Amino acid sequence: MAIFIGGAWPYANGSLHLGHISSLLPGDILARYYRLKGEEVLYVSGSDCNGTPITIRAKQEGLTPGEIADRYHEEFQECFAKLGFSYDCYTRTDTPYHHQIVQGIFLELLEKGLIYLKEIEQTYCEHDQQFLPDRYVEGECPVCGATARGDQCDNCSTVLEPLDLLNRKCKLCGNPPTTKKTKHFYFSLSQFQEVLSNYTQEAKDKRLWRENAISLTNRYLQEGLQDRPVSRDLPIGVSVPVPGYEDKKIYVWIEAVSGYYSASKLWAKEAKKDDAIFWDSNTISYYIHGKDNIPFHSIIWAGILSGLEKQALPTHIVSNEYLTLERKKLSTSRNWAVWVPDILTRYEPDSIRYFLTINAPESRDADFSWKEFIYSHNSELLGAYGNLVNRTLKFIQKSCEGIVPTKPISQALMERVDSLYSEVGHELEAGSFKVGLEKIFEVVRFANKYFDEQQPWKKVSEDKEACLQVLSDCVYVIANLANLLTPYLPFSSDKVKKMLLIDEENWNPVSVMAPVLLSKVKPLFERIDVSNINEEIERLIKQTK
Ligand code: MF3
Ligand code: ZN
Repeated sequence: MAIFIGGAWPYANGSLHLGHISSLLPGDILARYYRLKGEEVLYVSGSDCNGTPITIRAKQEGLTPGEIADRYHEEFQECFAKLGFSYDCYTRTDTPYHHQIVQGIFLELLEKGLIYLKEIEQTYCEHDQQFLPDRYVEGECPVCGATARGDQCDNCSTVLEPLDLLNRKCKLCGNPPTTKKTKHFYFSLSQFQEVLSNYTQEAKDKRLWRENAISLTNRYLQEGLQDRPVSRDLPIGVSVPVPGYEDKKIYVWIEAVSGYYSASKLWAKEAKKDDAIFWDSNTISYYIHGKDNIPFHSIIWAGILSGLEKQALPTHIVSNEYLTLERKKLSTSRNWAVWVPDILTRYEPDSIRYFLTINAPESRDADFSWKEFIYSHNSELLGAYGNLVNRTLKFIQKSCEGIVPTKPISQALMERVDSLYSEVGHELEAGSFKVGLEKIFEVVRFANKYFDEQQPWKKVSEDKEACLQVLSDCVYVIANLANLLTPYLPFSSDKVKKMLLIDEENWNPVSVMAPVLLSKVKPLFERIDVSNINEEIERLIKQTK
């Protein structure tokens, strides 16, 4: 089976925070799972180096957009690597290659009559003497009344055009902008009304998308799909490949999402492989992003792919809700955020991956608090899982001269492990990452209870064979927990697998083959001092503007 996984493309205009990771992490979990299962996986993403956010940042710092993009692209790559993200291709949108592919897509849609030129009124600021990018126009959302930008309302998720806003203001100078006539290219989304309605209905019937993706997409469909302008007067980006219009840029709606295609082409070129299997009607695809990106994928990207007559419309849409921080909305401008480069200097990637999964905003917003984070590390990762591994292996070291016993495992236990593989696999494939992890941790607790009840420390002198049975059983469970946790917690799984000399790579029960001599048994996780809770909260408050 061919599994395509597309992670959303973060804007390279500032560091990643935990909100980004909480919405992107499911992509890596899926990629690792499907690779273990032996499927053909292509997991791609990249830095979004175009668009107004970068231009704004560059202006603020007196640098060029390219310099800003370089800085954050490198930082993103480093953070993703440290967190264990296993992209097959992580690229960027300011490469000549991406530009060329996007222009190809634009031209193909133009030739098919799905993109057309139209004269429109556009917001123009007389004071700044320029057409305003969507995000430079602010005003009231016509739907909910909240303050919104000219591209969308973050409060009610309505996709907007600058002229939809009430009481418009130019973000540069604060004056109300006027309008001026100009020409722009439009994408005929309205032609896809029926195709996309059927498509969304099917996703709903088969429960392939998150609830939020179904309801938001249905909202747009019920309102009736509108043709959308897909060119802009912007200083950076991919130029419209039409003579006389080269100064205009292709807008993010077409440009960024086409990155999925350009990245897969780039991967194919570099790995000398064929990417066609990831774009046909048998492909299973997962698109991983936060809820603000839903229409990009369920409508625009699905529309573009239909227009290109590609049979690989997104099958799964994994669109997380938001992560709040200490019960308050994350704010990058107020610096109310936990920044990834910072948290990685003090905490382990698996602790972050564990917390962001067990506490994922899968169907409603979830909260990151330092207290919960540190408690979950100490009590679940270290207290339950780490402890199981540590007490079992330490005991073997002490009482079996470090030689791991390998008695035949009891039938009931093997069955429990067997069914765990299919249950967790089922949850992962359905995009229920949290439930999958909970199921694994039920078995962690079960195994700890088993160890307690069987009391191998007593059996060792009373009935050595029975003691070896308990230890064999526990090691079997540990080996399989490590294997099952590989997609979730790759770093600690790797440590356990190395200790037990397991080098199989598959989604099936693994056995420990004799003889394994344990050398140094080191704890899987370190305890985090609870005094860190207050330190971290103080740090957060201090940094906030
Ligand atoms: N960088 C854009 C954003 O963050 C686009 C990401 S969506 C994708 O909104 F489809 F392009 F990934
Ligand atoms: Zn609104």
